[in-house]
Amino acid sequence: MDNSTRLQYLEAMGIDVWVPRKPAPVVNQTESGSTSEYLIQEPQVQDNTQQTWAELEAEVAGCTKCALCQTRTQTVFGTGNKTADWMIIGEAPGQHEDEQGKPFVGKAGALLTEMLRAVGLDRDDVFITNILKCRPPGNRDPKPDEAESCSTYLQQQRALVKPKIILAVGRIAAQTLLNTDAPIGKLRGKVHELDGTPLVVVYHPAYLLRSLLEKRKAWQDLQLAVKTVNQSGN
Ligand code: URA
Repeated sequence: MDNSTRLQYLEAMGIDVWVPRKPAPVVNQTESGSTSEYLIQEPQVQDNTQQTWAELEAEVAGCTKCALCQTRTQTVFGTGNKTADWMIIGEAPGQHEDEQGKPFVGKAGALLTEMLRAVGLDRDDVFITNILKCRPPGNRDPKPDEAESCSTYLQQQRALVKPKIILAVGRIAAQTLLNTDAPIGKLRGKVHELDGTPLVVVYHPAYLLRSLLEKRKAWQDLQLAVKTVNQSGN
């Protein structure tokens, strides 16, 4: 199916397709070096797909791309099934995650575990990670340059896991992945698409701990994610 037909189908099904902003085309000089013979190349998608999990994990562990490396106890790479149907992406490690080197291990993590159980999933069935692999001091929001520095790691993880669904947990994860400033209330409740993978947004469990009334919406979003995976077949 060609891309425009696919987009029409997705639109008809009410699925929002988010296309990342295109980087500026790369201008390359031809071998002759003549200024009149510049070639405009299509931007190249970074092809690191041969990178193994072990290589990627080692690269993340030694990362010094942003200032968070100076304040972290350790990096938090991600845990779970490396060929999972579900990829859960949160915001960033907090204090407990920074101490233990695992994502979602604090109170919010316990609620996330319960939410997954409610739809029949164990933490070991899914792959859980974050936009940032290092804790921002004082649990402040990630800065854009930090998210940018970490983005290739997440891209690689997505390429290796090849999930059937991405669950974006919380506003920051949703806005970063979908490259939008839209409020989470507008992003939840529908199926988006990220590079061909369906993506559903769910309220962050830390928020749900404070706003119990929103739990019903989180349940609806999880149901939507289950339905989407089931419809994807195989
Ligand atoms: N909140 C997140 O978004 N991620 C974690 O790993 C922990 C808390």
